[in-house]
Amino acid sequence: MRRAPLRDADLATAFDAGASAYDLLVGRNPGYHENLRLSAERLGTPGDGAGLRILDAGCGTGASTAALLSAAPRAEIVGVDAADAMLAQARAKQWPPGVRFVHSRIEDLAGAGVRGPFDAIFAAYLCRNLADPDGQLRALRELLRPGGTLLVHDYTSGEDAVTRVKWHAVCWGIVIPLAVFHRGGTGLYRHLWRSVAEFDDAPAFAARLCGAGFTGVRFATVPGWQRGIEHSFLATRPVEDHAGRPGQVEERRA
Ligand SMILES: C[S@@+](CC[C@H](N)C(=O)[O-])C[C@H]1O[C@@H](n2cnc3c(N)ncnc32)[C@H](O)[C@@H]1O
Repeated sequence: MRRAPLRDADLATAFDAGASAYDLLVGRNPGYHENLRLSAERLGTPGDGAGLRILDAGCGTGASTAALLSAAPRAEIVGVDAADAMLAQARAKQWPPGVRFVHSRIEDLAGAGVRGPFDAIFAAYLCRNLADPDGQLRALRELLRPGGTLLVHDYTSGEDAVTRVKWHAVCWGIVIPLAVFHRGGTGLYRHLWRSVAEFDDAPAFAARLCGAGFTGVRFATVPGWQRGIEHSFLATRPVEDHAGRPGQVEERRA
């Protein structure tokens, strides 16, 4: 029987099970941290980030939080994640006083006391995991101040046969065997493989951002083996936000 990607409680359980090996495994992924830092730079926060509020949506063990800090070391950063054990790994690290972590599903932020407006939202490897990505992108738009920026950093299904084959080969030839070797459990990494293969390609995800009422939508890939598979997507909450009237993809950067 064909399996669907994991969602909600099952997904949080899979991330909790994989939390202790997560940093080790992503550390073996060449370019993982560098590409997160590149996306954080592409967010384009001014200066050292002093006075800015940034939401790290799906912060996990804090790799994306660290990337945000490299681009905006003095920003206030709120990291939110649904998986307790992933957050425990994040909290165990050293952070400047402006960083805090909240245990919550991204869908339940108000109930967890996390309120906008944010100047920027960074969502690394989150959106393809959501049960209702369109509804949640609209909710993220409403958490931004008018003119605020969302940066989505994620793998997308390949735009051509070569990138799609590369994704299957990397997952089944390297990532899943490495997870077996490190006893991290393969459930999370089989989910990674499936959730990417079944998700949007980059133009489709950019169109999804437009459909959620963002403007100035543009995307660019990253260097390394991830080229053509992983992208940074930038999207802006319109200054005049007419309740999410769909925008347009304005530009595609190489
Ligand atoms: C692949 S990890 C990425 C972590 C981090 N952003 C990074 O770049 O390394 C995805 C994270 O999103 C979290 N996540 C998935 N769905 C979520 C949801 N609906 N609400 C909050 N967190 C969620 C998972 O628990 C997991 O920690």
